Amino acid sequence: MTIRYRFENSLYENVGDKGLKYDDILSYAKENLERHHKDLLEKRKNKTLGFFDLPYDKELVNKINELKKKYINIKNVVVIGIGGSSLGNITLNDAINGVYHNDRDTGLPKIYFADNVDPEKMAHLLEILDPKETVFNVITKSGSTAETMTNFMVLYDFLQENAPEKIKENLIITTDKENGNLVKIAAKLGLDTFVVPYNVGGRFSVLSSVGLVPAALTGVDIEKLLQGAADMDKICSVCDIEKNPAYMAALIHYLLYRDKDVNINVLMPYADNLASLSDWFRQLWAESLGKIDNKGKNVGITPAKSVGAIDQHSQVQLYIEGPFDKLITFIEVEKFRNTVKIPEVFTEIKGLNYLCGQTLDTLINNEKKATEIALTSENRPNTSIIVPVIDEYHVGQLFYMLEVMTAFAGELFNIDAFDQPGVEAGKVATYALMGREGYESKRKEIEKELKNKKQREM
Ligand code: PA5
Repeated sequence: MTIRYRFENSLYENVGDKGLKYDDILSYAKENLERHHKDLLEKRKNKTLGFFDLPYDKELVNKINELKKKYINIKNVVVIGIGGSSLGNITLNDAINGVYHNDRDTGLPKIYFADNVDPEKMAHLLEILDPKETVFNVITKSGSTAETMTNFMVLYDFLQENAPEKIKENLIITTDKENGNLVKIAAKLGLDTFVVPYNVGGRFSVLSSVGLVPAALTGVDIEKLLQGAADMDKICSVCDIEKNPAYMAALIHYLLYRDKDVNINVLMPYADNLASLSDWFRQLWAESLGKIDNKGKNVGITPAKSVGAIDQHSQVQLYIEGPFDKLITFIEVEKFRNTVKIPEVFTEIKGLNYLCGQTLDTLINNEKKATEIALTSENRPNTSIIVPVIDEYHVGQLFYMLEVMTAFAGELFNIDAFDQPGVEAGKVATYALMGREGYESKRKEIEKELKNKKQREM
């Protein structure tokens, strides 16, 4: 079974003028699809874009399977990383193991994420962890990100203080093959090291060692995950707009932005275990597409996170009566892995007894349907990704489809979807403010700017 993309509610036939005419989609595709497809294909062939081929790295899978044998009895895994070096890991854990994974007695290691440099969160993490029973996977492609390196230093010191004999055994490094500080530290300490391929950017790296190592250590079947992605590759590499859901989704977003001023992309899974997929997707979409195009114009569609049914009681009012600036993409799960029956209690109460004997899965899916109907009847464009079941195979498909969709949207917008000059600027300013050597003039520049600025504080 494969995930499916339903888009009829983004069309004129269902939402009138706020939607697209199907013929307009086809005629844009007829004129431009091949050109954009060829460009992407070229970047895949000449290895500029490595994410396309991640599902086929058998050598990496074997290496991870070997590593797993070492950690059969480990109690905790801590991922030290941020942005593309943690969001995919959080998504994978939530989707496959579930958001309550750490509180359930499954026999699998618990997983923690040292992403932000929040002192309270870190202090609590240090309280929880038994360093002798914990594997630390430091993940940073650049090997220099301030947040990750800082969290690593704190946790390294914690290990040194409390279990120095475990440093070599319980530290795993995932970084660039040769650049950055981390690879040097790894070599010096003789640590297990995984490589982030040079041609895979952070936000496209979930199916590389970045996502796979912690996932495998916490029981995720990475072979099924990669199989799902590989099968999606077959579908998403077809140069036919009516057969390729990734291209169709990208084109709908692009044309709604260009012709109908739709500049917000809401991803709304009706499943708590997929809520963090929206966080992962926000980074993928925002960092890839918020850019200056080849004519010097600032472009981008703001991604937004929403979770059904929770946000029916929060955001949906805005989606139905607010500005016509959003395309909502629901994620619907056809078959949940668990079912919970609504018990036959309070049957005498008329306003409640319609629920008795039904199930939570029927309720959540009907709520999705109801929101879809409500939005469509108010001419609010919406689409749906249908996921047969949340498992490794289908999550692999989801990751791959959303990545190809984002890469293809980059072609449509005429931008480089694979750099992040804005992020780099913030990193440089942090180095300067924290006194890193080589950044003295930047620091002076910032200080001067701050001094000349009139402060307005109340
Ligand atoms: O997508 C990206 O490249 C970034 O968001 C990075 O993932 C993020 O900045 C972390 O970088 P690094 O893995 O080098 O620590």
